[in-house]
Amino acid sequence: MTYRMTFRGAAVPAEPGQSVGAALVAAGILDWRTTRGSGRPRGLFCGIGVCFDCLISVDGVPGQRACLVPAGDGMHLGDDARHETVGHGEDGGHAGDAGGPR
Ligand code: FES
Repeated sequence: MTYRMTFRGAAVPAEPGQSVGAALVAAGILDWRTTRGSGRPRGLFCGIGVCFDCLISVDGVPGQRACLVPAGDGMHLGDDARHETVGHGEDGGHAGDAGGPR
């Protein structure tokens, strides 16, 4: 059975056992939030629940780690604020941000 989720109104299919983040990437959606200060796009980075780059709203609950939340049929993703609270600094602190303009 293929699950059907929505991301900002668009259909996103998912297979049982996939994470929300994996389903989004498989659907070609590589980023789903931006940083508060510089507006840089963010999606999956570590993929294991460490970096918090992948925060997304799931069924109206903000700040969920897409790499850890199992996909489910009928889930609504990312429907509220584009800017999520990160809590580890605005960019999550990964090396890809080093030296870039702020
Ligand atoms: S991708 Fe790093 S916490 Fe989800």
